[in-house]
Amino acid sequence: MNVLVLGGGGREHSLCWAIKQNPRCDTLYCAPGNAGIAEVAICRELDICDRIQVSEFCKRKEIEFVVVGPEAPLAHGIADALRSDGLLVFGPGQAAASLETSKAFTKGICDSAGISTARYAVFDDPEKARAHVRECELPVVVKDDGLAAGKGVTVARSATEAIEAIDSIFDKQDGGRNAPDALVVIEEFLDGEEASFFVLTDGETVLPFGTARDYKRAFDGDSGPNTGGMGALSPAPAMTTEVVQRALDDVIHPTLDQLRRRGIRYQGVLYAGLMIRNGHPSLLEYNVRFGDPECQVLMIRLGAQAFDAMHACAKGTLRDTRVNWAPDHAITVVMATRGYPGRVVNGSAIKGLDRISATSSFRVFHAATARSRDGLTATGGRVLNVTVRSDSAPGARRTVYESIGQIDWQQGFFRSDIGK
Ligand code: AMP
Ligand code: GLY
Repeated sequence: MNVLVLGGGGREHSLCWAIKQNPRCDTLYCAPGNAGIAEVAICRELDICDRIQVSEFCKRKEIEFVVVGPEAPLAHGIADALRSDGLLVFGPGQAAASLETSKAFTKGICDSAGISTARYAVFDDPEKARAHVRECELPVVVKDDGLAAGKGVTVARSATEAIEAIDSIFDKQDGGRNAPDALVVIEEFLDGEEASFFVLTDGETVLPFGTARDYKRAFDGDSGPNTGGMGALSPAPAMTTEVVQRALDDVIHPTLDQLRRRGIRYQGVLYAGLMIRNGHPSLLEYNVRFGDPECQVLMIRLGAQAFDAMHACAKGTLRDTRVNWAPDHAITVVMATRGYPGRVVNGSAIKGLDRISATSSFRVFHAATARSRDGLTATGGRVLNVTVRSDSAPGARRTVYESIGQIDWQQGFFRSDIGK
């Protein structure tokens, strides 16, 4: 069958790589893709949030199956539109995507189902939000209610820092105008060990799809600002068999029950950001897509079978699907342009990638690259994901950092403590 992947980051490169290995895939398209993805898929410039453009492209190329990578097209209802065209789609519809697009919606689900999560308050009035944080215990967490590419959260150590975060959320959402729907969520700080937990669900069956630890801060030792993720390790050490079962029983199933009560069917991957304390998971947030860079470590571990599972999920036949996990470990290290998560300058040259040969357990996934006559250049903040699968986490770590040593990119930086 012909397959289309929507997105153009490291997550989508790893998805394309896994899909392309499965003999059931004939022609693989990716929109918009990037220079790395172009090595495994035919890349096309499309506005992936535009239902009509994507739908027409699918008809023209006789696409049967669409895998949606990022949250933005899901928030725009691309999955609903393509399903109504009769296509198989991996990714939830617009209503189900509220689990990510509105933190207030998710908190409401937690309240109804009694799911453990940080205590919180939601404000549409900056003055009231500022007054509230002056009364809160510190640290306090300030969140943009809507989508913010992993950068909408501030863990504030002082009331001043919290107030700055509140102001910047209202300023940004206002865009200088009066935005009636600007919301800020202020919540209690939870201590513990963080982990990302992934399940596939077709609306009925839930299939656990792996765990990972994400490294959200920009610099070594978890210092610096929050980013979209600077590296990942799978499996997540905190997600023991027992914790996984608790996460399913106490978080995932109650959430899906609540959605069903509201008449919402969830079809795709559900990603729970969890904080584990004394073996008990609390929900930090939901995402309605794979994590980036967590997807990269899941894909290098799963390979071609990821395609079968995602296809069964889209078809509604997850009940008959199994995945085989090897007792292996994977690490990905993100190489980013200096300045990330702030402003970066695009166009710096990346050399030396041809010195390292790719195998089924080693890949450099591209997150933001372009190829010109002069070679490979960086086109964004997070640029490369050096990804390794090995029998042990220390083994994976060694190979990852040896390989990074071969890459010659003056403008790049990375964390040297991923998986440590
Ligand atoms: P989120 O986008 O909600 O996952 O938040 C991004 C990151 O901020 C999380 O991965 C945590 O590291 C941190 N964070 C969010 N909420 C809390 C909380 N209530 N307590 C402690 N840390 C948090
Ligand atoms: N790596 C975190 C995320 O994808 O949201």
